[in-house]
Amino acid sequence: MPAPPPDAGSQRATVREVRPSGSDGVVLTLDLEQPFERLRAGRFFMLRRDDALSPAIPRPFSVFRQREDGGLEFLIKVMGAGTRALADCRAGDRLVAVGPLGNGWPVLEASPAEPLVMVAGGIGSAPFHMAIEDALAGVDGAAPADPSALCLVYGGRHEGLLYDLAEFEALGVPVIACTDDGSRGFHGNVVQALEAAWERGDLPRAGRVLTCGPDPMMRAVVATATGAGMPSWVSLETYMGCGVGICNGCAVPTCEEGPMGSWPFAKCCVDGPVFATEAIDMAAVQH
Ligand SMILES: Cc1cc2nc3c(=O)[nH]c(=O)nc-3n(C[C@H](O)[C@H](O)[C@H](O)COP(=O)(O)OP(=O)(O)OC[C@H]3O[C@@H](n4cnc5c(N)ncnc54)[C@H](O)[C@@H]3O)c2cc1C
Ligand code: FES
Repeated sequence: MPAPPPDAGSQRATVREVRPSGSDGVVLTLDLEQPFERLRAGRFFMLRRDDALSPAIPRPFSVFRQREDGGLEFLIKVMGAGTRALADCRAGDRLVAVGPLGNGWPVLEASPAEPLVMVAGGIGSAPFHMAIEDALAGVDGAAPADPSALCLVYGGRHEGLLYDLAEFEALGVPVIACTDDGSRGFHGNVVQALEAAWERGDLPRAGRVLTCGPDPMMRAVVATATGAGMPSWVSLETYMGCGVGICNGCAVPTCEEGPMGSWPFAKCCVDGPVFATEAIDMAAVQH
């Protein structure tokens, strides 16, 4: 039975800084009582304030960036009570942080002919900053990737939902920004932007795809990747209760013939949040 990762635990954290991002988000920087060595990109923490302003159940957030001095940054879009309470934090406020949780992105080699294409929708960009940093640096035995072997396709309904776009562009890899209303970059959605880049010859129709964002967007991205013969992975943002495999609140339908076997559900918190798309039933994924 899957269990929480051995390095996970619950501890207090202190808010170092909160700065606005996009039209409805913040970047929250925390100092943990027990900082971690470099974490794998795509892992997450369950966070709540250590007072009555947060709901009792903590909420899951991907690690956005890990500073060299140990500070952890989270990119948070305000959705409801839990995210509002975190966005309203001030420096010095105390939080409860449970983590690091989840598996993180797979370590994949990339080349200009077989690039690693990352496709983010809105706040789904959060787990990609470290993914790009890791690919450029080369981690866990992978060779450092040339910047031209990576590409981030980053879409939102409008410019205000392209959180911290400048921080992604500053990484030095190709970033294709796109918006549904044309307020920034390519006028259209991420799939249209990707197809246009393939047609222009800016990207080979080859390589591997990582995606995170709203479920319908991920379904369309996975269908496009599969149609192009490109293996793909998704990072799912299911609702979560415990984050550690106990409550069964994060069920993800699996593919009977896939690598996870015949059990009909995986748990997003301990089996994911990253899944190879052949392992899960993307058509049935909805939150
Ligand atoms: C592994 C993982 C990583 C995540 N990383 C991030 C991140 O880096 N940044 C970030 O901003 N968010 C992230 N999320 C989503 C975040 O956890 C939710 O937005 C948050 O739990 C909402 O809590 P709330 O109390 O503010 O909203 P609630 O009051 O619980 O809900 C408010 C509204 O938002 C909707 N909602 C709540 N959760 C989700 C969800 N997961 N997907 C779609 N709609 C939802 C509800 O249906 C409701 O309409 C992540 C989720 C998971 C599972
Ligand atoms: S959130 Fe409780 S089992 Fe996954």
